[in-house]
Amino acid sequence: MKRIVILTGAGVSAESGLGTFRDKDGLWTRYDLSQVATPDGFARNPALVHDFYNARRANAMDAMPNAAHAALARLQAARPGSVTLVTQNVDDLHERAGAQDVIHMHGQLMRALCAACGHRWDAPRVMAVDAACPGCGKPRTRPDIVWFGEIPYHMDRILAAIAACDLFVAIGTSGEVYPAAGFVEEAAMIGAETLEINLEPTPVPGRFDRVIEGPASETVPAWVDEVLGGAAPVA
Ligand code: OAD
Repeated sequence: MKRIVILTGAGVSAESGLGTFRDKDGLWTRYDLSQVATPDGFARNPALVHDFYNARRANAMDAMPNAAHAALARLQAARPGSVTLVTQNVDDLHERAGAQDVIHMHGQLMRALCAACGHRWDAPRVMAVDAACPGCGKPRTRPDIVWFGEIPYHMDRILAAIAACDLFVAIGTSGEVYPAAGFVEEAAMIGAETLEINLEPTPVPGRFDRVIEGPASETVPAWVDEVLGGAAPVA
């Protein structure tokens, strides 16, 4: 059975009402990422950083998975053990659509991390600067999010899955943030097919063997139907 690695980005959750980062009106057009998404920014103004992620957590909790999340969960369930789902997204919409094993390489909004002892736990809806870590008691709690300058999570597992895959698919990601942006080259290097599914093709022509254009809520279910058999190839 074909081994598939899928990398998702903010575009998969866009139709659930969660903003992307780099599109028009994206989060990074409205916020300074050096203030809210770096260890230095957190050291300078932890309250501002907590406010930013508290707002994003509230948005994510109020959002519902869309047809793209549901289709990917359906694919994973239909091909047990052969579909690795990696996401750059920090929301939990893949899980809430039924995906069983989701690799969150940039962390999770719904988890908290102690900067003092490394303990992790379920984040409350609103995190506060002075909240004590349930493990060590120190008031050094932060969202369990990978910030710029930090190393993404689960890289060994992701690179091993890519090294063994037959098909690599990037869905709803601009391909601007490394190391995720380099996964397509890793996959191509070992001879895997590569597919991009995006609202519009990302700027580097020829980077993927195949591109499917359109909103994820339509293109992803159609592609999953194609993979599972019976449907004509998506144009
Ligand atoms: P970006 O905002 O960079 O890119 C979103 C992509 O989704 C773009 O290529 C859009 O064309 C596409 N898109 C938008 N709406 C879509 C739709 N309805 N259907 C399909 N595609 C759609 O977001 P990411 O690539 O996920 O990292 O950003 C990568 C990382 O940069 C994020 O994980 C975050 C950010 O800084 C951290 O915070 C560490």
